[in-house]
Amino acid sequence: MTRPFIPPYPPRQPRPVATWRGFFGERARTSVYGWSQFAFETNYLKRNILGFTVHILLDPDMVQHVLLDNPAAYVKPDIVKDLLNPIIGRGLLTSDGDLWRDQRRIVAASFSPAAVDAQRGKFVEAARSAMSGWKHGERRDMAAESTRTTMTIIALALFGGDPRLISEESMRHIAAAIEGFSEARMLALLRLPQFPITPKGRAGKRGQVFLRRTLAEVVDDRWHGRVAGDFLTGMIDALRQRFPDDEARALAVDNAATFYLAGHETTANALSWTLYLLSAQPELQEELAAEAKAATEAGEEAERLTDRLPRLRLFLMESLRLYPPVPRFDRQALAVDRIGDAEVAPGDIVSIWPWLLHRHSKYWDDPDRFEIDRFADKGGRHRFQYLPFGGGGRICVGAQFATIEALTILAHWLSEWRFIDSGHPARAAGMVTLRPAGGLPLNLERRKD
Ligand code: HEM
Repeated sequence: MTRPFIPPYPPRQPRPVATWRGFFGERARTSVYGWSQFAFETNYLKRNILGFTVHILLDPDMVQHVLLDNPAAYVKPDIVKDLLNPIIGRGLLTSDGDLWRDQRRIVAASFSPAAVDAQRGKFVEAARSAMSGWKHGERRDMAAESTRTTMTIIALALFGGDPRLISEESMRHIAAAIEGFSEARMLALLRLPQFPITPKGRAGKRGQVFLRRTLAEVVDDRWHGRVAGDFLTGMIDALRQRFPDDEARALAVDNAATFYLAGHETTANALSWTLYLLSAQPELQEELAAEAKAATEAGEEAERLTDRLPRLRLFLMESLRLYPPVPRFDRQALAVDRIGDAEVAPGDIVSIWPWLLHRHSKYWDDPDRFEIDRFADKGGRHRFQYLPFGGGGRICVGAQFATIEALTILAHWLSEWRFIDSGHPARAAGMVTLRPAGGLPLNLERRKD
């Protein structure tokens, strides 16, 4: 029997916090900061934020209504599109209606279970290559290591291993673009043009410009037939069949950016939080390392590696519950609707918070406690109370890819290395994704056995 472990979470106020406080200090930078305990107990909250009515749905039935039962009444919010448009344009994540449907159809086959299976070798290659640089006894930022690895995988799996997408320069610009989001969000909320004022905001803008320019070059190489045979080439061909050339080219760059960013940043955060939770529970880490070692030694071809990792899979699910890499996502109502007792008007924002639903006292026993066996029993859960990958028709297209990828990387890393707490406090930060603030420095020990 292991001791109960409650991993750290931001302080909670006893009572609801005034909306204006969300514009200052840590609350303006970290979406999961500044919630009251009440938000983890009630089933609905309504906010008025600079003229927007925001309905925060904390009841899985309500979430199901929006994502599954009545999705035609909702779209991605204009404000989210304004915020993300300079970087991912009208790609799959930020489009709606027919444009969304066409793009989803184009990419669907590349993320089928068979297509993900075909990528397994690349997951192993990147996991092994990362470890080759590690030294026994050193302290290493495992958040950066996770980002480098998932970035390499997305470049290998979707963009033919293009070296421009695996550079340290790209990594720096992406980190800056993500950090610049809190200022960009504020400008969008205030309906001001996106001219950042602070050094962080300006670095974020430079990061966006760099990424768009690089991805436009990557697309052009394929457009003109200089590179062939990867996911992006296939997508360009399919887009050219459906859209006029100028639109097809713009959408190709938008989707290159969408898949490059959505495809690695989220999985990197899932890996980081999982490694943090492993370092904080050494006994459990030893148990999972033994499972990982047996699984990797049984040979890649013999059986599917990830089918031999039942405990690691449970651990990953619990990690995605406690630190969902996408802690919130939103919709905007197109028409009048009723969600439970709430009257929704056209233009209202409906906000879905994995962060709150995953730690809600009505749906989970002892919600803040890490419990590896929580998911061992498959029954008894509402399918919309646990949604690290979203739900309904717009569920994450890369969910299967990310799960197999994360399990493969973790199994290889754990079977050879021990990850030891370095005393650096784990604190969740970020406006769009949930990153460990200041990275994740861990001490590394090579396993002898
Ligand atoms: C642990 C890793 C990941 C997490 C937690 C995650 C989470 C999510 C969530 C919550 C959504 C739904 C957003 C909404 O409904 O508004 C989403 C959508 C999406 N994700 Fe992921 N994701 C992950 C990995 C990936 C990977 C590996 C890829 C691609 C290779 C990817 C590509 C996308 C795309 C393109 C969408 C938009 C889908 C659509 O609207 O049709 N994600 N993801």
